Amino acid sequence: MDMIKRPRRLRGGANIRKMVRETRMDKSSLIYPLFAIDGENIQEEIPSMEGQYRYSVDRLPYELERLSKAGVSNVMLFGIPAHKDEVGSQAYDPDGIVQRALRESKKRFPDLYYITDVCMCEYTSHGHCGVLCGHDVDNDATLELLAKTALSHVEAGADMVAPSDMMDGRVMAIRQLLDKNGHKEIPIMSYAVKFASAFYGPFRDAADSAPAFGDRKTYQMDPHNGREAIKEALLDVEEGADIIMVKPAMSFLDLVTNVKAATNVPVAAYSVSGEYAMVKAAAKMGWIDEEQIMCEMAVSAYRAGAQIYLTYYAKELAKCMDEGRIG
Ligand code: PBG
Repeated sequence: MDMIKRPRRLRGGANIRKMVRETRMDKSSLIYPLFAIDGENIQEEIPSMEGQYRYSVDRLPYELERLSKAGVSNVMLFGIPAHKDEVGSQAYDPDGIVQRALRESKKRFPDLYYITDVCMCEYTSHGHCGVLCGHDVDNDATLELLAKTALSHVEAGADMVAPSDMMDGRVMAIRQLLDKNGHKEIPIMSYAVKFASAFYGPFRDAADSAPAFGDRKTYQMDPHNGREAIKEALLDVEEGADIIMVKPAMSFLDLVTNVKAATNVPVAAYSVSGEYAMVKAAAKMGWIDEEQIMCEMAVSAYRAGAQIYLTYYAKELAKCMDEGRIG
């Protein structure tokens, strides 16, 4: 055969394959989502997310220790309060679950980096991401509460805040209130490109945050829309977002690439609860190789352009990176 170009030359052995790798990853770009729950001495497994737990504040340090040992230094904190009400008042209570978890965790593990999810859905009795006006969320009334929540997180020690509610104008509202209170240095990672997705199902079990009626389609995006993702991303950058997130990851990788091309800020991809649950379930059946699938999913997010990856598999991925099976 008279062939000059043979792509297989660069696949001939492990060394050359690694040399020509286009996608390289680092543990420092991983963020682990962590659930803190009101109460004491609680470490309960989330039924739809095997291997993931809700921890009371006194138990959180055990998990932080494991993360720290695995070399995962960034966490995204979610709170599950004992009491929910119409206006989600536990979200911005200085003694709320996230605020207490932050104070305790920062004291015990000051070297970790604490990001907080800023949203109302875990705190409202109706499970929507903002306060209601009739049967819809009142966008502008919610902004004030989101900003208050973000400020209370920062005052309790958050290193970064991450609004995930999808209200219009929330990044600006948060930025202004943080700045007014002297927190100009705190970055905002916006869940800017967040779709109304069935992939959040297991999370809503975990956080007990499923909407009591209706759905989130008036605020989260329609999965059919890709150009609108750019609109959302650019708006949030204009409002002061330092990092833009695309969520879920696996079914929206085209948007990771497009948002990266359209902006000049770091792009994060969140491999959400449903992605994790699917892999776990299929692996349990013996139908797929869990580790290889987990690695492939991570590689695809980074290859698409993500610089930051949020995943429930953060510890396991870090191990694979350490052992050279990925990266
Ligand atoms: C809060 C929030 C959700 C997730 C992250 N922040 C749920 C939702 O919007 O319904 C989903 C995370 C996951 O599924 O892993 N609004």
